[in-house]
Amino acid sequence: MSDAIAKTAPESGSAAVQRCIVPACAAAFGIREQIYVCPRCGGPLEIEIPLALLKSGADLRERWQARAASHDPRDRSGVWRYRELLPFDGDAPVVTLFEGNTPLYDAPRSAKYAGLTALRLKHQGCNPTASFKDTGMTTAVTQAKLLGARTVVCASTGNTAASLAAYAARAELQCAILLPQGQISPAKLAQSMDYGAVVCEIAGNFDDCMRLISELADVPSIYIANSINPFRIEGQKTVAFELLAQCDWRVPDHVVVPGGNMGNSSALGKGFDEMLRFGLIDRLPKISIVQAEGSAPLAHLFAALPASEIVADAALPDEVAPVADPRTLATAIKIGAPVSWKKALRAVLHTHGNIITVSEQEIADAKAIIGRDGIGCEPASATTVAGIRKLVVAGKIHTGESVVAVLTGHVLKDPDYVSHYHRGTLAFETVTEQGAAQSVPIVGAFRNAPEKVAANKAAILKSLESRR
Ligand code: F0G
Repeated sequence: MSDAIAKTAPESGSAAVQRCIVPACAAAFGIREQIYVCPRCGGPLEIEIPLALLKSGADLRERWQARAASHDPRDRSGVWRYRELLPFDGDAPVVTLFEGNTPLYDAPRSAKYAGLTALRLKHQGCNPTASFKDTGMTTAVTQAKLLGARTVVCASTGNTAASLAAYAARAELQCAILLPQGQISPAKLAQSMDYGAVVCEIAGNFDDCMRLISELADVPSIYIANSINPFRIEGQKTVAFELLAQCDWRVPDHVVVPGGNMGNSSALGKGFDEMLRFGLIDRLPKISIVQAEGSAPLAHLFAALPASEIVADAALPDEVAPVADPRTLATAIKIGAPVSWKKALRAVLHTHGNIITVSEQEIADAKAIIGRDGIGCEPASATTVAGIRKLVVAGKIHTGESVVAVLTGHVLKDPDYVSHYHRGTLAFETVTEQGAAQSVPIVGAFRNAPEKVAANKAAILKSLESRR
């Protein structure tokens, strides 16, 4: 058995179904039907795991913990370790790069900056392709193998593409990715090229790429791996399980994530909810989503909701007004029409969280602070710490509460941004209310530019002294 393609254990949740989340429809479909939205009403689908068929929570918790010491490829994966809660049979051809197992760091400088006593950062950038996407791609590409797909495809702002390209290569599937031309970090693009994907640079933005992807949905040999695909969400939900295990099953008060296409927030919401329903926790963390000001359709919708609709299990709005020309230097979340907004909004309402925006300046400074904790992340991830700071000021998060921010991408995903910030050359290209082009400089409050130092000991010591 190769490391990349292992077999699952027979105890996994094969009695699962795909169910439409629209309450008035709630249609159920077989687990091996190749569908992405409800064929009856067009609503989003999610996987329903028959929790009642599983062993007791305490038994499973012990089993999961024991697996961490095993060398079985499925046990070494931080996703497949939780396979009882995944919708696959024992003979599924698991495609893994040993994703998950990411660190939960204490971040004292970031905590102080945000106004908290303590803050923990769950670094999903420590995955095999350096972003959180890998935990969902292992399950989506495994499903692609099961369905006999020839080609896997996605639209992407860079990370989904890099991740899918890698997992497709492991599974020996063709991979095609649709990227908005000129709007992707070169580091992410380089990964996709290296993993052998067919890279299609589209003259348009991410939302245009996503529209094109949905046109491919009826080609049987093609499998779509964007987070509209509920099998992506199944892998990503295990991050909630891993996080709870790392917290010794003590539930944090708040979990804060960036918001782009909204798969991550949807997945965490599902993961925590399953743990609650399974009795492994007795309350839910508040899930809050932070968007960049110029790309914030869901935050706008949330801000406009009447108080009577900001309650658990409220009826969800039918649509979200898209942002036609999304803008942010955090290119990973430059998205105007998020596909998974309904599931994400449901998770926030269900857990009494918030959805807010942060400015380009706030993202940049929060990112630098996360770096000063010795951790680092890509710009989109830093919306979390910037957002927590705002939520503390607004009294929505209290100083002594336990807070986890999910960092979604590694600092080396966007080195140009880092360099421009520290050298003082970062600028945000936007438009004024009158429609005129405008370049807004980002003033690096925590700048750390390199300096030219003469090649002798005295000059180096002087330089050190001046920076104490
Ligand atoms: N952070 C990073 C680093 C991302 O790459 C993304 C999304 C997000 C946050 C937002 O997560 O979409 O689940 O709400 N990147 C996608 C991509 C869109 O194509 O790589 P989300």
